[in-house]
Amino acid sequence: MTTTVENKATLSFSDGTPSLEMPIYTGTIGPDVIDIRKLYASTGKFTYDPGFMSTAACNSSITYIDGDKGELLYRGYPIEQLAVNCDFLETCYLLLNSELPNAAEKASFVSLVTNHTMVHEQMQFFFRGFRRDAHPMSVLVGTVGALSSFYHDSLDISDPHHREVSAIRLIAKLPTLVAMAYKYSVGQPFVYPRNELSYSANFMNMMFATPCADYKVNEVLVRALDRILILHADHEQNASTSTVRLAGSSGANPFACIAAGIACLWGPAHGGANEAALSMLEEIGSVDNIGEFIKQVKDKNSGVKLMGFGHRVYKNYDPRATLMRETCYEVLEALGLQNDRLFKLAMALEKIALEDEYFVSRKLYPNVDFYSGIVQRALGIPVSLFTGIFALARTVGWIAQWKEMISDPEQKIGRPRQLFVGPTRRDVPPMSRRG
Ligand code: ACO
Repeated sequence: MTTTVENKATLSFSDGTPSLEMPIYTGTIGPDVIDIRKLYASTGKFTYDPGFMSTAACNSSITYIDGDKGELLYRGYPIEQLAVNCDFLETCYLLLNSELPNAAEKASFVSLVTNHTMVHEQMQFFFRGFRRDAHPMSVLVGTVGALSSFYHDSLDISDPHHREVSAIRLIAKLPTLVAMAYKYSVGQPFVYPRNELSYSANFMNMMFATPCADYKVNEVLVRALDRILILHADHEQNASTSTVRLAGSSGANPFACIAAGIACLWGPAHGGANEAALSMLEEIGSVDNIGEFIKQVKDKNSGVKLMGFGHRVYKNYDPRATLMRETCYEVLEALGLQNDRLFKLAMALEKIALEDEYFVSRKLYPNVDFYSGIVQRALGIPVSLFTGIFALARTVGWIAQWKEMISDPEQKIGRPRQLFVGPTRRDVPPMSRRG
């Protein structure tokens, strides 16, 4: 909800266009916004903001980030408290319903999600159409999109109950599809969901059980996965969330909208960084090579970046990175891998970078991806599936944002405008006169 404040912005022009007064709205926290919606009708001019550096595309009450403080809040609750006191399904409930569940609400939500984890048996045929070496993200874009053709009973997006059912289906079925993508890639039979297991334990079972060997659930590892999911559950209006909102603004099918979000997340500038951070550590290889590597990072001509460092919004320690480092310790200890080569290397690299003037002056701190690759690798998750795990976690954020958008009375189809710099009107020449 926005409120108008006393303040107004006045835009004046040097080309004779009369100046324009625009209202300023203030949210509960964060920067005020200037309402420019009447700008074009009043002046015939657009604003220009590629990359949305200064543009709020919607109002939202789901997630708040203060990049300077290094603060992340889901519905007002700090990520540090949620990661320690709640599990992923409680976090999902919070993101979807604005409040944390009480015990009875949690039990009924868990039961609802658990009872939607199976996918239609027909889905197997979609998987079998993919090459075994297909990237899991391409498989997920295809199979999540394919869900659109299965649920004709709940496709009236103007009906809040239908929206709810779609949200639950997506949260419930994503782990099944991600695990199926993995099983397909390694040529093992699909493992069906097991309703007596928790959300994260069920996912690990679908990943690692086989018909010849049960998966023994390790609570430390399950808790680590659950924490990865909580930390990635939402991150306000990032590229993939904005993609879901834009796709959904036309009234498109929610499963198709989430498939669009997955496509956007796949890009290396977005969801692919944890994979890159792990490869970077492998490449550096040993603590002795850190000095030389940092030299290359500082050399603008080398094109080398310290992956897992820096963030568009966080200009302080990413709060998720602190939690992920803690989880890293716990997992490696539980597996007897305290001397893990890459973890030691990561810690040494982080220490050196945090003391180096180059990183300090640019406010470059570790982001969540700096440690999440090491944790996922320790859990046995293959590198190619890292972004798929991110998609599984972010599905709740995407669908919560989609629901918020659909029920917003100010919602309109998203339709950015442009500064046209191409040719002006001209006539089509006959073929004989075309150069
Ligand atoms: N290593 C070395 N230098 C860096 C890094 C880095 N990781 N990140 C930023 N810089 C430098 C830039 O070269 C620039 O230096 P300059 O001012 O001398 O030209 C300065 O810091 C500012 O950087 P920008 O690129 O302007 O920052 P921006 O906000 O556009 O980029 C980004 C943020 C893309 C995340 C960047 O920091 C980066 O590429 N990091 C590595 C990749 C990564 O870890 N991505 C994960 C993001 S978190 C997530 O998606 C879950």
